[in-house]
Amino acid sequence: MTRKDTGSLPGQKPAEGKWGRMFSNHTFDITLAKAEGVYLYDTAGNRYFDVSGGALGASIGWGDPRVVKAMQEQVAKYTYVTPAMANEPRADVCERLARLMPGTLNTTYLVSGGSEAVETAAKIARQYHIATGNPRKNKVIGTWDSYHGMTLGALSVAGGAGYRHAFDPMLNGSPHIRHCRRATDRPLGVTEEDWGRTCALELEEMIHYCGAENVAGFIATPVGAGTDYGLVPPQSYWTTVREICDRYNVLLIVDEVVTGFGRTGAWFAMNHYGIVPDIMVTAKGISGLYFPMGAATVTDRVNEPFTKGTYFIHGHTHMGNPVGCATTLAVLDVIEQDGLVQNSAEVGAHLHALLRERILPHRPIADVRGKGLLAVLELVRDKETLEFPPVEAEPEILFQSIAYKNGLSFYTALYGPRRPSAMKRGVAIFITPPLCITKPQVEDLVERLDRTVQEWDQLIDR
Ligand SMILES: Cc1ncc(COP(=O)(O)O)c(C=O)c1O
Repeated sequence: MTRKDTGSLPGQKPAEGKWGRMFSNHTFDITLAKAEGVYLYDTAGNRYFDVSGGALGASIGWGDPRVVKAMQEQVAKYTYVTPAMANEPRADVCERLARLMPGTLNTTYLVSGGSEAVETAAKIARQYHIATGNPRKNKVIGTWDSYHGMTLGALSVAGGAGYRHAFDPMLNGSPHIRHCRRATDRPLGVTEEDWGRTCALELEEMIHYCGAENVAGFIATPVGAGTDYGLVPPQSYWTTVREICDRYNVLLIVDEVVTGFGRTGAWFAMNHYGIVPDIMVTAKGISGLYFPMGAATVTDRVNEPFTKGTYFIHGHTHMGNPVGCATTLAVLDVIEQDGLVQNSAEVGAHLHALLRERILPHRPIADVRGKGLLAVLELVRDKETLEFPPVEAEPEILFQSIAYKNGLSFYTALYGPRRPSAMKRGVAIFITPPLCITKPQVEDLVERLDRTVQEWDQLIDR
């Protein structure tokens, strides 16, 4: 079965000329001319809503003159500092993060992106345990179907089958459990809170099988993973996970790469639960995708051995790059000055109400979930039968093609390698626009989305 003829929809770009010189080519024949606020403009004069906020990371609008100015000023001053010298923009970002993050998450290691930040967190956890008299603690438990990045260490703790299999022999054998599962999976008569606790107990079971003396940490995203992305666990899930980690001296590493910096209507998604992880991993929204930036932030307890002689064996040329830091400070200023966390909560609530009213009733939409300006649609062939589109139909590519035609830019082409597993549960379509989006803009977006879903329903082979 294949998708039907899509007429004049934007197609896949043939790798011709200079485009063929890139190792991994793009999917659609669209070239950007400029980006402003929540909109992208291509060289053919078309305007698109940036529905997915770049790769789920636009915490502020595009082209903000305050950020552009801060970047230009830093570039004009100096663009690099070796770790041997004091790097003031780096210290300023770390200080700002200490103010913004909950609890005693006070000390930060800055890197260039989410994967590096995940690697950094895992290495900090390992060295923390060595330094505190638990040298056997080395395993970091991850969740199946999760995504934590593409480097080998990040792939090891991540759980997406489609990404991992080719590299299996090169991965480090990290154990995995399931993330908090859907309320619809819970047995009749079991409350949501009891279900959250039951799901969390899988962590204790895995620690038992690994031997607590071998487990250094547990890493997960605050919301669900993979095709369950955007699933918001009940309070009991995270309360129980925190208790288990404390009981077995396992560091709780929370990956807020997507959810951090206002995405869910709070500065960090874990704030909704009042749970402070031992290590928080952030990237994307931290610099609004204006510059590559990532961070691993630790609590005072985790930091302590490193202040008493333990040398952290780590380093990247661009850790704490001053241009990245100046950019990050300016982006964080904009989030604070423009009240974007609050905007995410308010406009996000409006978005979710509209999605439930206008989009959820459609046959191909099995679920709408998320919080704040993180919304996930679950696209299936038919929600009554829970039939999924065939892999060969490239349903997410078709969806994105139709969306472009309707002035919406999504980031669904990322499914390529994990399409087979995604098809088992429906394709997660992310709605994560820049956090400055307004209510009227959200209404326009949903109108276009409504059309897109209906056209997809007509065109997908059934
Ligand atoms: C939850 C999560 N963690 C980590 C990463 C990896 O970040 P990066 O692509 O910056 O290496 C991503 C990227 O999408 C992510 O979504």
